[in-house]
Amino acid sequence: MKKIFLDQLKNIKKDSLRCKKNLLKNNLFKNNNSFYIETDYIFFDFSRNIIDLKTLNNLSNLAEKLEVKNNFKNICSGNIINKSENKKTLHTAMRGTFFNLDKAIKNEVRDYKKNLREISDNIRSGKHKSFNGKKFTDVVSIGIGGSHFGTKMVFEALKEYRVSKINLHFISNLDATEANEVLSNLNKDTTLFVIVSKSFKTSETLENAKLAKNWLKKQGNRKNVMKNFIAVTHNFEEAIRFGVDERLIIDVWDSVGGRYSLWTGISIGLIISIGFKNFSKFLDGAAEGDKHFYSKKYTKNIPVIMALLSFYYSRFFGSQSHLILPYDYSLRLIVEHVQQVEMESNGKSLNTDGKKFSNISGNIVWGSNGIVLQHSIFQLLHQRNIFIPSDFIISKNASSRKKDNHHKVFSNFLAHIETLNKGFSKKEADDLYEKKYSKKGLDKELVVKNLTLAGNRPANAFLLKDISPETLGMLLSFYEHKTYVLGLLSDVNSFDQWGVEIGKIMAKDIYKDIKSSKDNKNESVLLKKYLSKKF
Ligand code: F6P
Repeated sequence: MKKIFLDQLKNIKKDSLRCKKNLLKNNLFKNNNSFYIETDYIFFDFSRNIIDLKTLNNLSNLAEKLEVKNNFKNICSGNIINKSENKKTLHTAMRGTFFNLDKAIKNEVRDYKKNLREISDNIRSGKHKSFNGKKFTDVVSIGIGGSHFGTKMVFEALKEYRVSKINLHFISNLDATEANEVLSNLNKDTTLFVIVSKSFKTSETLENAKLAKNWLKKQGNRKNVMKNFIAVTHNFEEAIRFGVDERLIIDVWDSVGGRYSLWTGISIGLIISIGFKNFSKFLDGAAEGDKHFYSKKYTKNIPVIMALLSFYYSRFFGSQSHLILPYDYSLRLIVEHVQQVEMESNGKSLNTDGKKFSNISGNIVWGSNGIVLQHSIFQLLHQRNIFIPSDFIISKNASSRKKDNHHKVFSNFLAHIETLNKGFSKKEADDLYEKKYSKKGLDKELVVKNLTLAGNRPANAFLLKDISPETLGMLLSFYEHKTYVLGLLSDVNSFDQWGVEIGKIMAKDIYKDIKSSKDNKNESVLLKKYLSKKF
């Protein structure tokens, strides 16, 4: 780590101590414009954090010293950034964000998008028909991880934008219960399967693809069931071997990592549903997010601030997790997507040179719909002595268009974020007791103590203009950039994921052991119990 970076960290440590002290004096939070950032689609309020102006400046100097913007431009310029896999990182190219890329790649992006438009239009219009000449009524996207979460999340969020009557379904789980459930309501004659797997080697996806093929084949002795399949992959050879018509295979560039691939053909199911025009708007929103990231100064840069705060809390406040609370129902799956983006990217203990380090890299990202979690985990959030920074997300204009209902959702959003921040004093608790509980014959002292909240729990608020393709594109690009900056701060490669490989290999070996249970040499007690006829 560069010395200037380490020196700057010392300053920030001092800031954290000062802020903690001022916090106790209730002297920290001010209504200051420096803690709000507005874009066309997102209003970001980070005033409820344990920082002051000096901390904000010192944190942004850290980003300056790391040359965050130049580094980002470098990843968008086709250089090999992912050294352990010797790969480029061109996920922003689909949204038109590239620097110093030659024309050929730009043309490739243009042709790629044209192909996506054609394939999706043909399915919607009925030009591409099923094996028995019928128009498709249902599309099932089969994939897992980055070939599933992002596209499913965006589909759930943008249901209002559907331009087609075609229903979209998802199968991800290896437990066939999911596939059985999805398939049980579908018509074999009119169901299109999209096998989404960059590697075309992921066993969960391949098993589900086989299951789908067998399900179709059971339709009498009809041939040609492969007309009901398209594939999205970089491994054309395997997809063709599976039986997919080469003309119906959409490429996923090797330079686009799985968890960063929702901007590509990986989202073809979504594109069929919301139309290419809306998908383009989604890409445009992300491009706006990119522009904000590489052009705004660091103190006014949403993803940079998100990352710096997260880093600050891990280093100096001992936080290990980050909670995400989308208050709109339609945004609820954002947590699963960001979870993969952040945790698979930065959950590392080696730096870019392969050296071990002891600092935390990669927070545990968790959460779910805010309203629902208020009735389960918020007790702990308000009162347990544990440090959990959070992102509260809500739209100004609800997709449901039930205005009054949304006012109530927003009231809850603001009530909790304020309470987490300000707490509830003994005086306030006393007053509340008198007003609400005094006639109930409870132990006053005990109740007042229990009603008192310490507060000082940091929370960012994201007020979205709406839940539109553009806004969503920007929001998701911000989470990608936040992840990237966090990776830079910890000096890790945010684009590889070696840690998940060993489990995959072992699972294959164990499966072999299960299948050959007679001469099984595996010593695992658990496996023996699993195979035992007596249990
Ligand atoms: O196992 C992790 C992973 O490799 C993810 O990074 C990826 O998104 C997912 O599996 C699915 O991979 P594929 O698209 O190759 O099936």
